[in-house]
Amino acid sequence: MLPIVYLNGEFVPKASATLHVSDLAILRGFGIFDFFRYVQGKPRFVEDHLNRFFRSADKIGLEMPVSKDELRAVVMELIKRNELDDGGIRFVLTGGYSENGYTPTTPNLIGMAYPFPPLPRELTDNGANILLHEYQRQFPTVKSIDYLEGIRIQPMLKERGADFVLYVDQQGYVRESDRSNYFIVVDGKLITPAADVLEGITRMHLLRLAQQLGLPTEERAIHRDELLAADELIICSSAKAALHARSVDGKLVGDGTAGPITRKLQAAWPAYYLAH
Ligand SMILES: Cc1ncc(COP(=O)(O)O)c(C=O)c1O
Repeated sequence: MLPIVYLNGEFVPKASATLHVSDLAILRGFGIFDFFRYVQGKPRFVEDHLNRFFRSADKIGLEMPVSKDELRAVVMELIKRNELDDGGIRFVLTGGYSENGYTPTTPNLIGMAYPFPPLPRELTDNGANILLHEYQRQFPTVKSIDYLEGIRIQPMLKERGADFVLYVDQQGYVRESDRSNYFIVVDGKLITPAADVLEGITRMHLLRLAQQLGLPTEERAIHRDELLAADELIICSSAKAALHARSVDGKLVGDGTAGPITRKLQAAWPAYYLAH
């Protein structure tokens, strides 16, 4: 984490950016967050991220203590005060200090900046190994701080040589990864689920980019069997951009390398990204 943190209206050194133990985020995991990158001093897709942050708060009944304009100003101030041009920003809004440990009170708002090292070359070159895992996020469209299952299964992923998981719901539909959305390519068409997933900002912009490039797209549910037979598989997030999957449950996706549609998107992404 970079040295200066925003906490409830003030910019403070990270060592003194502390919350009381009675916060509902600590006691009950009640809170939401958002994360986005800034590159060359400019936050990317910032309006989309701030809008989603406000929507997440609204969906779980937390009142945002600042306006969108104020939050936008905090973003710029965090970038400036931390004196680094490329990084990531995470906002967290918690349930607040709760005497009875259950009733939300005035939320605490935190803004943190991070350095953002590039993804390991091994991952971007070779692609991600994916495991399918049965699980449904509790409130799929809310960017909540609940990553219980994703974190719990990290040792299992490591043991099985996997990088990421894709969550499969009880009906056998593959919704999203623990921290990413995804696309498959079938017969040249990019397909991604739309319902019961986080409204990923990278997903949304990859769809727009695909349309600009004249690539056919479709938003609909994807069954596990269809995913396992797909020509290409891309997982995407603010942290990963568009990353090709090498394998799913040990079976290669295509020949395991980034396919032609993935490469088209990856080639066009940096210019699109820097224009936003
Ligand atoms: C559950 C989940 N889905 C999808 C995403 C990708 O969203 P974005 O592209 O906005 O980073 C994330 C990001 O952390 C996530 O946590």
